[in-house]
Amino acid sequence: MTKKELGMIMPPFALPVCIAGANIDGRPNYCTLAWFTMIDDIPPIIGLVMAKERRTKDGILENCTFSVNIPSAQMAAVTDYVGITSGHETDKSEVFESFYGKLGTAPMIEECPLTMECELLKTIEFETTDMVLGKIVGVYAEEGVFKENTPDAGRLDPLMYLSVGSTYHRLGEMVAEAFKVGKTYRRGN
Ligand SMILES: Cc1cc2nc3c(=O)[nH]c(=O)nc-3n(C[C@H](O)[C@H](O)[C@H](O)COP(=O)(O)O)c2cc1C
Repeated sequence: MTKKELGMIMPPFALPVCIAGANIDGRPNYCTLAWFTMIDDIPPIIGLVMAKERRTKDGILENCTFSVNIPSAQMAAVTDYVGITSGHETDKSEVFESFYGKLGTAPMIEECPLTMECELLKTIEFETTDMVLGKIVGVYAEEGVFKENTPDAGRLDPLMYLSVGSTYHRLGEMVAEAFKVGKTYRRGN
């Protein structure tokens, strides 16, 4: 296989997107993020990379709580909307129907099939971004996403984002079972 060197650019990853939520002065604010990842599993720790000026981050620091909401592919337009408008200028509190869990101050999105409420653990500062680390204290999934008691990828239908070219996509078909297909690997196959 021949490779073309692309230089120091953002690599063209396909990333799932989430919508982070936080209360600011008692009102929900939401913003779209593609740079987020699990950090640990027991207890579950999640990390969000947010530019310093994000209004949603002000709310995270105000209450030390936040939510991570996973939109479905059919929510592309509203997900993009909260990613191109800032709470600094626009009131986004009514864009979604919000609900609260045990933390009381982490607004979650009723329309998203999967949502999480998180307690802020710490932030790590970089030059133009901060990494916000939180413990997931509650996960809420819509009944419709389950197939035989397990969340099903097709029913979750997560919205994916391709960073180079800036386009949204759906997940493709399942290709194999993780932690199993590797056992069939033989060098040279
Ligand atoms: C597809 C997409 C992905 C984004 N990913 C991030 C991200 O990972 N980190 C970030 O800081 N901003 C990201 N943004 C930009 C913020 O969502 C955007 O600046 C938003 O207006 C911030 O809102 P706020 O100021 O109300 O928090 C993304 C936007 C879009 C459309």
